[in-house]
Amino acid sequence: MRTMLSTWLRPGKVAIDAAIVADQEGDSLENCLVRGLSAAEDHPELIAIGRGALPNSDGEIELDAAIMNGSDLSAGAVCGVRGILPVIKLAQIVKDTTPYVMLAGEQARRFALANGFVPENLMTDEVNRRYQMYLESPERSKAYVHSTEDEPPHDTVTMLGREDGHFVAASSTSGLPFKLPGRIGDSPIVGAGVYADDEVGCAGATGMGEELWKACASFRAVEFMRQGMSAQQACDAVIDQMIRRQPASHQRECVVLALDKNGGYGASISWGDFDLWISEHGTSRSQHYSGKLGAKA
Ligand code: GLY
Repeated sequence: MRTMLSTWLRPGKVAIDAAIVADQEGDSLENCLVRGLSAAEDHPELIAIGRGALPNSDGEIELDAAIMNGSDLSAGAVCGVRGILPVIKLAQIVKDTTPYVMLAGEQARRFALANGFVPENLMTDEVNRRYQMYLESPERSKAYVHSTEDEPPHDTVTMLGREDGHFVAASSTSGLPFKLPGRIGDSPIVGAGVYADDEVGCAGATGMGEELWKACASFRAVEFMRQGMSAQQACDAVIDQMIRRQPASHQRECVVLALDKNGGYGASISWGDFDLWISEHGTSRSQHYSGKLGAKA
């Protein structure tokens, strides 16, 4: 049986639905996650990842992605890529066709063009509008939260997959809204944003990238599972350690999710709220998590 997870309510639903279709079509576990994230990247109305994501402070969308296959620890990643979709597919091509793990920036874009990707303007009217709000607001980076949507924008979708003792982890992000150009967070970093090892399980992260990276959150969760913890225990242990050691995790969403070898899944969040999609037997359901240090007011 395949189990797949994806993060956040609206973009996570688009991703898990596309992954389920890929599963029903008999695609590999890895390709199911790539197709799930690609669908969320391509969706113009999701203010999340890929097309229509919130840009950096120059008004340009810079994308990062990574994928790791637990069968042989193979991994591929791209970061700081402009005008290319889907970057999770690009990360998979880096993994499958080069001896490297990560390509960055303009050179990653050149690699994409050489592999048949077509340059695109990923800014939509809605994110242009929000970027103008950002430029005009006195406090700048607060503008994007003044949204009338039910759910605030998210910048990352992370997916995990398990099938008969095999694990894959993948993540795609636009990074922090209105970030300094060139800033890279946890998501494309193997060990921070994703990790998978068929000996143990897999884990992923979403939220405040600097803190999750410093915690090596995904690798740490997998290593906690190696020591005998369940997926849920491992996620809680990572977040407990972050809360103890990283004060910046107290008022920002830092999320870790995991799949273990015993059929379990888990997730934990430092502060705020988080929704996880779980797909089993071809159907999906969502589960809500509240922060260990409290939910949003
Ligand atoms: N977790 C996504 C980022 O901080 O870039």
